[in-house]
Amino acid sequence: MTVSYRELGLVNTKEMFRKAMDGKYAVPAYNFNNLEQLQAIIQACVETKSPVILQVSKGARDYANATMLRYMALGATKLAEELGYKIPIALHLDHGDTFEVCKSCVDYGFSSVMIDGSHLPFEENIALTKKVVEYAHQFDVTVEGELGVLAGIEDEVSAEKSHYTDPDQVEEFVSKTGVDSLAISIGTSHGAYKFKVKPGESVPPLRFDILEEVEKRLPGFPIVLHGASSVVPAYVELINNYGGKLDGAVGIPEEQLRKAATSAVCKINIDSDGRLAFTAKIREFLAKNPQEFDPRKYLKPAREELVKLYKHKNINVLGSAERA
Ligand code: G3H
Ligand code: 13P
Ligand code: ZN
Repeated sequence: MTVSYRELGLVNTKEMFRKAMDGKYAVPAYNFNNLEQLQAIIQACVETKSPVILQVSKGARDYANATMLRYMALGATKLAEELGYKIPIALHLDHGDTFEVCKSCVDYGFSSVMIDGSHLPFEENIALTKKVVEYAHQFDVTVEGELGVLAGIEDEVSAEKSHYTDPDQVEEFVSKTGVDSLAISIGTSHGAYKFKVKPGESVPPLRFDILEEVEKRLPGFPIVLHGASSVVPAYVELINNYGGKLDGAVGIPEEQLRKAATSAVCKINIDSDGRLAFTAKIREFLAKNPQEFDPRKYLKPAREELVKLYKHKNINVLGSAERA
């Protein structure tokens, strides 16, 4: 049964991005797969009065179940109300790779979808993205497209090597497809291993020159940054101290994200940092309390850590706190 996102208490990303552009901050897009992650995102964003994009990958949708997700989203908007401050909440498909999955998300109450045709030849990316836009816009669902390829794994789209977005392509892409926002590749990548750096070396800076070129060609148009986890060293350390093995995990320095957030970048995607925080706290708890087997006992501190992490991001990195 088709449901409108409005019935779930959600909004699309149009107004969110307009305000983020004017206010020089970025809206957080936090990925979730389960109840505790969703609760933490809502609590952190209500407490910091931040707009938020609840982000679901294709894999997450398969994991959680499409029908469950619809009601989880409804639960999330009700929870936000109950917590006492109304914030704009969008439900967004992350890295949709076919027209069918995007359509299904629109039909199941998503307020925004990404069609990731970045691995396709330019004309094919345009054709696929346009098809999704034509469907989604009938229901006032916003669409994110992508140009340029991030290194690492983009869901099932594997990219061995990144290639930066070509600023000369962005105007044509946006005008021919009608997308509402554009993800670009300026040096970020997915996952916890973004760069190979030797001890003492710093990570290469993001290509702000490309971002500036894109902004010149698309004045006032919302840009999206994927792969924007900082891979918080304290969590990596905690994981490794309690039996994990994450060697050489490194992410994007917070100052660079802060700078990006003041530009046309209106949406910043963060998944890995949440995964690391959650896993770190669970590992720590189980190692210190080997007799415990009630999932609530170890999921509660993990959830609390997520709230802390997301509040920190909203306040100090994205600048989205107090903007709702
Ligand atoms: O960009 C990818 C996101 O981090 C989602 O990853 O496909 O493992 O859910 P996933
Ligand atoms: P991270 O792996 O850096 O958290 O990126 C997440 C992302 O881009 C989701 O689309
Ligand atoms: Zn991504």
